[in-house]
Amino acid sequence: MSVAFNIPQKKPAAELLSEIQRLKKHHNAVILAHYYQDGAIQDLADFVGDSLDLSRKAAATDADVIVFCGVRFMAEVAKILSPTKKVILPDMEAGCSLEESCPPQEFAEFRAKYPDHICLTYINCSAEIKTMSDIIVTSSNAEYIINQIPKSQKIMMAPDENLGKYLAKKTGRDMILWPGSCIVHERFSEKELIKLKTEMPDAPVAAHPECPPFLLRHAEHVGSTSSILAYVLNHSSDKFIIATEPGIIHQMKKDAPHKTFIGAPGQDGKCSCNQCPYMALNTLEKLYDCMVNLGPEIEVDEKTRRAALKPLEKMFEMSPSMASNRPQDQQNITKPVIA
Ligand code: 13P
Ligand code: SF4
Repeated sequence: MSVAFNIPQKKPAAELLSEIQRLKKHHNAVILAHYYQDGAIQDLADFVGDSLDLSRKAAATDADVIVFCGVRFMAEVAKILSPTKKVILPDMEAGCSLEESCPPQEFAEFRAKYPDHICLTYINCSAEIKTMSDIIVTSSNAEYIINQIPKSQKIMMAPDENLGKYLAKKTGRDMILWPGSCIVHERFSEKELIKLKTEMPDAPVAAHPECPPFLLRHAEHVGSTSSILAYVLNHSSDKFIIATEPGIIHQMKKDAPHKTFIGAPGQDGKCSCNQCPYMALNTLEKLYDCMVNLGPEIEVDEKTRRAALKPLEKMFEMSPSMASNRPQDQQNITKPVIA
């Protein structure tokens, strides 16, 4: 079936939005977006969520095409879970510093050094790294999963060292950690945060566990993007300091327009340096183009897909049931159906 695309080169935003909606219908597509995406992309998505929510959604959708507005490893997870669907993302260069910090060859050597350790791997990694892992975790289920592992079982974790340190402290488990980190969450400044907290003593700090320990010790709440969102919505305070990528503030303002959200400061006292450069590669124009071209498309060879699927299935098996405090999430998250 053919479809006419008579759109001029530079399109006004309203025209782009209506064309994206038209293409979505035409291709029987679903648009999934992460909380770190540009606000305009979050607003047009069918579903916005954290890594775990998005993987559940990708596994359960009956659309023919998954348009993934997030970074490449997230789209790759969608393809691993839904191999018969076409998975596209606006910019194939949208990577992740955690994925880059964990090259497969070096990781294989690291893994081989600890044959008696169970390998928990943060979902922010390549499909190849997943094939060498026992259980995938996200920031919203990692603690819950670790607490199910017998105390006698040794644990190793990759690739986020900050998340690993946070979990080791929270669960009281010793873990061998891969030395990777997220460039975005490393950029917050402890000195500037203390200054801001002094100026705003009533504003609780909500932080992502990818932040270094010196920052997390000042946080009243630590959790995944959706848990941070639920925290600010349910807390009685009307002012918050947010120590994660500022894209999430868009959703906070939508859900709680009467509250104030201040991004945690970077080294220069501002927070603009904390925008994820990979997430920012996805723009409305590129989203439109990828829906016209049905590409760039994510491909995962079948052998890798099957091997990467196992630790993801283990993750779903050991994850809590959908515990969200946001009514819209309760309606939108369906049970994963693994291919
Ligand atoms: P969440 O799973 O909390 O959304 O985290 C994803 C991520 O990339 C954080 O930097
Ligand atoms: Fe990766 Fe950090 Fe960007 Fe999240 S914020 S996608 S961990 S680089």
